[in-house]
Amino acid sequence: MTPKDRIIFALDVPNLPEAIKYLDLLKDSVGVFKVGLELFTACGPDVVKAVKERSGKGIFLDMKFHDIPATVKGAMRSASALGAEFVTVHCDEGKGLLKAVVEGNTGKTKVLGVTVLTSLSGEDLVEIGIDARYRNPVDLVLHRARLAKMAGCAGVVCSGLEAKAVKDEFGEGFLVITPGIRSSGDDRGDQKRAVTPYEAITNGADYIVVGRPIRNAPDPVKAAAIIAEEIGKALEGRQL
Ligand code: C5P
Repeated sequence: MTPKDRIIFALDVPNLPEAIKYLDLLKDSVGVFKVGLELFTACGPDVVKAVKERSGKGIFLDMKFHDIPATVKGAMRSASALGAEFVTVHCDEGKGLLKAVVEGNTGKTKVLGVTVLTSLSGEDLVEIGIDARYRNPVDLVLHRARLAKMAGCAGVVCSGLEAKAVKDEFGEGFLVITPGIRSSGDDRGDQKRAVTPYEAITNGADYIVVGRPIRNAPDPVKAAAIIAEEIGKALEGRQL
């Protein structure tokens, strides 16, 4: 994998023409395109095939499943039939739900457990009633990553602040995907546990998910190239 292959670009756009604009612009600058709730809800499952064909890249289908096991098992069966490389499920409903998603995977899709959203801080965890033992996000991320591992997930989604702890416990083979990427000076938006591309990769992330910092840049191709350069530097450091 080259550094740019580790960039997952979030196609958080409202319609297919907008998606096509970014596919054509960025297909040589990133490794994977992420279809999330906005585009999927607007365009339906056909958008996955359209993005795959037009870009020739792997698709990260960010469904963040969250329902009873029987329902998510069926949803995962449908998602894997679309040929996505990655599909996400929330970890916070426990091992039963995670296992059902893994069982519903009829293709070669990698199931990823979303541990704790990067838009949540320790205070937010208190607000939603998380037990005091887990109010440091890294403890909750590790707890949920253990559930994902036991259920047979290929890896987890967590912030770059927890990537190292996950890699230390589960080793290289367990994928770590890191959203909430911001360089110094970037608008953080709703992201609270944000790190730079360099920090995320240095801490062991396999891929980083980037949306607004590329999409809202005056020159998205240049923004992606700068991020790829930072990833390259971080990878050199990892080999030392
Ligand atoms: O625009 P920005 O770079 O903040 O986008 C991050 C993307 O990653 C969004 O599409 C969001 O849905 C996704 N994501 C996230 N935090 C997670 C999991 C996914 O921000 N824990």
